[in-house]
Amino acid sequence: MMINYKEQIAKILVEAEIGLSLEEIKEIIEVPSDSKMGDYAFPCFKLAKVLRKAPPMIAKDIAAKIADNALFEKVESVNAYVNMFLSRDAFMDHVVSEIVKTGKNYGRSEMGKGKKIIVEYSSPNIAKPFHIGHIRSTVIGNAIYKIYDCLGYETIRINHLGDYGTQFGKMICAYRHWGNKEDVIKEPIKTLLSYYTKFHVEVETHPELDDEARATFTALEKGAPEEVELWQWFRDESLKEFNRVYDMLGITFDSYAGESFYSDKMPRIVKELEEKGLLHESQGAQIVDLEAYGMPPALITKSDGSTLYLTRDVAAAVYRKEHYNFDKNIYVVASQQNLHFQQWIQVVELLGYEWARDCIHVPFGLVSLEDGTMSTRHGRVVFLEDVLNRAVEQTREIIKEKGVNTESLEETAKAVGIGAVVFQELSNNRIKDYVFSWNKVLNFEGETGPYVQYTHARACSVLRNAGEDLVNKASQLDNIDFSHVTGDAAYNLAKLMYEFPNVIIDAAEKYEPSVVTRHLIDIAQGFNRFYHEEHILVPDEAEKLAKIALVKAARDTIANGLGLLGIKAPEKM
Ligand code: ARG
Repeated sequence: MMINYKEQIAKILVEAEIGLSLEEIKEIIEVPSDSKMGDYAFPCFKLAKVLRKAPPMIAKDIAAKIADNALFEKVESVNAYVNMFLSRDAFMDHVVSEIVKTGKNYGRSEMGKGKKIIVEYSSPNIAKPFHIGHIRSTVIGNAIYKIYDCLGYETIRINHLGDYGTQFGKMICAYRHWGNKEDVIKEPIKTLLSYYTKFHVEVETHPELDDEARATFTALEKGAPEEVELWQWFRDESLKEFNRVYDMLGITFDSYAGESFYSDKMPRIVKELEEKGLLHESQGAQIVDLEAYGMPPALITKSDGSTLYLTRDVAAAVYRKEHYNFDKNIYVVASQQNLHFQQWIQVVELLGYEWARDCIHVPFGLVSLEDGTMSTRHGRVVFLEDVLNRAVEQTREIIKEKGVNTESLEETAKAVGIGAVVFQELSNNRIKDYVFSWNKVLNFEGETGPYVQYTHARACSVLRNAGEDLVNKASQLDNIDFSHVTGDAAYNLAKLMYEFPNVIIDAAEKYEPSVVTRHLIDIAQGFNRFYHEEHILVPDEAEKLAKIALVKAARDTIANGLGLLGIKAPEKM
């Protein structure tokens, strides 16, 4: 078990009888932003009030009391602060040994044991393009799932496909009028979309098409065989296309229960709303009034009796609670749907389900492309698959140019190209809008995926050059003298790696994968600083061994971090 240094220090301060409880002290201990001020610091302002003494005096007393403790190399008082410097030998020995021991599991924990988390993500609409905008929910959701999985939670990944609603009446109609089977099979989504677009053009001059579409959807809802068959076919063909992209990204789901899955589960919800007196009629439609909560009414059924997107979300949440009994039900969905989520979660709450508050909407901002191609106003859609393919192509060229010696150019190009797109996606705070930039994505020097992957490959290469015997010795922690790795660069790297498990917890609590991404960049930079400042494969065997242990720890930590983001870590590039 890794030592919790903050906790250790707090205990030492309790033993020094400074007059505060363990919990109070833990609240006060800081990690100074400048390491010249120590690894940990204790500001004495709060104590000054209790003791009615000047803070610098108190700091001086405390420093004197604890300076002899073996945990510290040095304790100083600077003004109101007690600055504590850990004993580097012992820290390096402990931290690097722990990481080497746990290896590919470093960062994993059991904190979520026995708890069940649903993560709903991606959720595209069938027969509609899977475009660059969909990358956000898909990739952020996948990382959130991996982060919770790493913390020992039982996870269920749901793709809530948009596979239901009146638009399928239009789609079926359009296909019947202008469709061609072979074209759909060849390029399902592009073809179906063109029919759908044609429908909207034609309906302008032929309004009767709308009635036809409505009747078709009603037939579908009632389970008419011909309509159901067509719908099923559209769904299957669309999923084939989506799955190509999911395969590229290495993403899978436990359930594809989309909106259609809830079509027979809604009457019960409507009835329940009615019985609890929540349903009101408004212009023929059934609504739940949310004025008391400062929101527009929630539309439950239309005047023709058909249900809506929102109704399906209420039914889905109730089903998930009953079927999975989740502790948390997380939805990774664009911030444009904030109001929708507030509304339906409020409806669930009004139904009297106290687990409504365990339904959590995790919103994110918009992505756009540099040349503005994302704007749907111009009807120019950029398919995610095309973006990923282009990233792989460009990466293949870069790797070739660099003349990198890799046996599997194709595999590396895929890992790096796709990894680069995913990494950029997860670099920014998710709520921010961002501009997708080709130059930034594939830069091997910036704060990018290729940079981190390259650092990992560099660590792998150092280990290869060190030779198997030495790496085995390091892995077995066979008599390593860590006093050889106490320079600033090595120490700074180990401190960053020490924080890694806490960073994962922080990312989980905030539903924010970018916390991991940014820490990973810090670790990669820390490693490269060590690599450039120190000679690793030195003649002195003992020194070399200690350094190799540190390199192995760094390689595993980086690989684990990339894994959490859903990114591969090639050994050569
Ligand atoms: N299919 C929807 C869309 O593409 C997203 C679904 C979000 N999930 C949900 N439970 N409402 O906009």
